[in-house]
Amino acid sequence: MDAGASITRRPSAKHRPPVTSPAGHALDPLAARLETRGPVVLPALLLCDFGHLAREVERLEEAGAAALHLDVMDGRFVPQLTYGMVVVEAVRRAAKVPLEVHLMIEQPERTIVDYVRAGADILTVHVEALSDPRATLEEISAHGAKAHLACSPATPVERVEPFLDRCDGVLVMSVEPGYGGQRFNPVALDKLAALAEIRRLRNAGYRLCVDGGISTETVGPVAAAGAELIVAGSAVIRAQNYTRAITELEHLAREAA
Ligand code: DX5
Ligand code: ZN
Repeated sequence: MDAGASITRRPSAKHRPPVTSPAGHALDPLAARLETRGPVVLPALLLCDFGHLAREVERLEEAGAAALHLDVMDGRFVPQLTYGMVVVEAVRRAAKVPLEVHLMIEQPERTIVDYVRAGADILTVHVEALSDPRATLEEISAHGAKAHLACSPATPVERVEPFLDRCDGVLVMSVEPGYGGQRFNPVALDKLAALAEIRRLRNAGYRLCVDGGISTETVGPVAAAGAELIVAGSAVIRAQNYTRAITELEHLAREAA
């Protein structure tokens, strides 16, 4: 279903890439890049200069970012409070590339429609925050966004396994959600490998994603374990040169994949 048919208040339709159904990966520009160039790095905006947000988006796009990762935190599901729909909308207006919105909030099912309207192309929800993950994933898909399910480091793969048939992607957290700049937790490698094996056995199509503690040391191992969408916050934003940081991380990922 085309999200445009049901959404009237969407802020910047002219910048949105075509919305595809969950089965429509082949039509997705991000998917096309994955097929031709291997794993992609999604810069996380969390540590960027929010006083010059549009400029930061522009710099990241000029640096080759295939998509951007936005961390929404509510001060309840995680200790920190970041931003909500207003900022997502502002990024949507500034950006041409797809946006992944990572909801680290309690009861995310209450705001799915709002975040799709605000401009999320991929909406990522935590299994730990949901009473009915299947229903929420189905709702995300019904509104035309890609439905990704996230799991924190302590959450076993078995918690997401029953819902994989409804997932366009699975985000394995390699740090405790809540802060940028934390140390990578290698438990993510086993989980990525397990999810890659389940995907192979089931002939499923969900994307493998990882978030937290990505650096030039850890990007190779996550790509080797199967990660395709690799979120990098401090490794990009704290670098002097965004282009060099993204290019190097993607090069290392491609070599290892
Ligand atoms: C952590 C966030 C991450 C964070 C990543 O809760 O979900 O997206 O921005 O930052 P780094 O790459 O610095 O760990
Ligand atoms: Zn995140």
